[in-house]
Amino acid sequence: MKVVILGATSGIGRAVARCLAEQGAELFLLGRDLQELGRSAQDLDVRRGTPDSPKVGFGACDLEQPETFELALDAATQALGDFDTAILTAGAFATQDELAGDSGLARRLMDINFTNSVLFCESARKRLVARGGGRLVVLSSVAGVRGRKPVAIYGASKAGLSAYLEALDHTYHGAGLRVLDVRPGFVRTRMTANLTPPPFSGEPDGVARDIVRAMQREAPVLYTPRVWAGIMSVIRRMPRAAMRRVDF
Ligand SMILES: NC(=O)c1ccc[n+]([C@@H]2O[C@H](COP(=O)([O-])OP(=O)(O)OC[C@H]3O[C@@H](n4cnc5c(N)ncnc54)[C@H](OP(=O)(O)O)[C@@H]3O)[C@@H](O)[C@H]2O)c1
Repeated sequence: MKVVILGATSGIGRAVARCLAEQGAELFLLGRDLQELGRSAQDLDVRRGTPDSPKVGFGACDLEQPETFELALDAATQALGDFDTAILTAGAFATQDELAGDSGLARRLMDINFTNSVLFCESARKRLVARGGGRLVVLSSVAGVRGRKPVAIYGASKAGLSAYLEALDHTYHGAGLRVLDVRPGFVRTRMTANLTPPPFSGEPDGVARDIVRAMQREAPVLYTPRVWAGIMSVIRRMPRAAMRRVDF
């Protein structure tokens, strides 16, 4: 597997990259902090444990700067000799209170999680389809499944992303593209460090194992940890009047 991944310097992305490295995948890391990318690449080289194979490469890509996407994917293509898998785990979070009180912050989050994430996927999708197919794996969220009070804006950004991913799957499945829309519940990472973990929260390593298994079986959607599939099937069916009364 030849994988380009944006967001491997922390949390779920870091855990996915480690899991794939341990399975011998060739990796190219994208991100905005070159020093941290270098440290992550070294860590992955050790985990791959194959000193004769190519080193894990890395290059600059900022999800707030769409003009960096093509150059970044060019660098990945050159280093890997083409890639068959693109993974986008980078994303932003802020609480509903923070977002409701700061329209600049809200715009920035929506740009990162929706507009620019879609643009990044479009750049990757074109390359994958042109080579006859491949995998596109993107981190959305359970927050995008229903409109909910505590995640009105963050959830909307992920709902838009999931709708786009479903349409990509419909459009390009026949062309060999396998799209995986990953919808984690609460996972303990840097992103959620200031929040109180609810019951059923997960750890990045377990979520990463679920993601890699879902990639292998070519699933289009993954809820992880698994218990969230059941929780969300109940929430999906809740009547609007009930959703107005609850605060989760
Ligand atoms: N944790 C959860 O409970 C949870 C639940 C549902 C969905 N998710 C989604 O899962 C994904 C991963 O979340 P996480 O919890 O693993 O978060 P995390 O630990 O905070 O990691 C976020 C990653 O995104 C990168 N990133 C952020 N802004 C970027 C930008 N402008 N350009 C390039 N890279 C950028 C970070 O890079 P730096 O190292 O440079 O900051 C980091 O590698 C996100 O899309 C998140 O919305 C998380």
